[in-house]
Amino acid sequence: MDKRAELYRGKAKTVFATDDPTRLVIEYRDDTSAFDGAKVAQLAGKGETNNRFNAAVMQRLAAEGVETHFEKLLGPTTSLVKKLDMVPVECVVRNRLAGSLAKRLGRDEGEELKQPVFEFFYKSDALHDPFINDDHVRAFGWATNLEVEVMRTITLRVNTLLKEAFAHAGILLVDFKLEFGRFEGRLLLGDEFSPDGCRLWDAKTLEKLDKDRFRRDLGGVVEAYQEVARRLGVAL
Ligand code: ADP
Ligand code: TMP
Ligand code: ASP
Repeated sequence: MDKRAELYRGKAKTVFATDDPTRLVIEYRDDTSAFDGAKVAQLAGKGETNNRFNAAVMQRLAAEGVETHFEKLLGPTTSLVKKLDMVPVECVVRNRLAGSLAKRLGRDEGEELKQPVFEFFYKSDALHDPFINDDHVRAFGWATNLEVEVMRTITLRVNTLLKEAFAHAGILLVDFKLEFGRFEGRLLLGDEFSPDGCRLWDAKTLEKLDKDRFRRDLGGVVEAYQEVARRLGVAL
């Protein structure tokens, strides 16, 4: 598969065209950003860790019947994916209170929620990814009613599958973000699943093992990601 022109340079990944118009190469960089790009640093080894971590998670989800864009690992920091027409929303599920929901409601982090909470955010760094609801998604034409239902159903199914996988590894899946896109008339899971886009706490100590280590200057960011991979049995 020939890597061609750079199409898009995001905050953490670069997207390249290939000789096949239906496929892209995604390169995972060491760049780490938080607060919608306001805080940026280079963390050695993060790109490779997330590329391999994401590949393992996407393959496990595919084995459980979740359709994803992931095709194969190409190298330490690159993967081949199906080219999607991305829906510009972020699908978040929360199992415990943390992050922006804790802030919005003025409550302490850590509270267990009586049921998973699904939320949409509009993907816009300039607007700081505003919280929106499903009416906004339909009203602005970002996705159809059916697509809204499919994104919600798949995200909650991914939550059920991954919550259990992380629990076996002694880790609480606090919350996470997914992105979807269209491919040949179907909606597939795109982008990535890695500790950059979720919250993971050690089940016993509640130690943070995700990007909050970077957001809050706790240090040991990539080491924590690698510890999560080790506990899940993901070869790095
Ligand atoms: P951001 O754009 O938020 O800075 P990244 O640095 O992770 O994020 O860049 C990756 C970009 O590629 C994201 O905008 C994401 O929506 C997009 N993307 C992810 N998977 C695909 C795909 N299969 N097809 C097209 N675009 C994708
Ligand atoms: P939040 O608490 O900041 O709303 O984030 C909830 C979860 O979703 C958290 O694990 C981080 C992830 N997320 C991203 O990775 N990128 C985003 O742009 C958003 C809104 C959330
Ligand atoms: N994903 C966003 C960023 O990279 C938000 C965050 O992680 O804080 O800036």
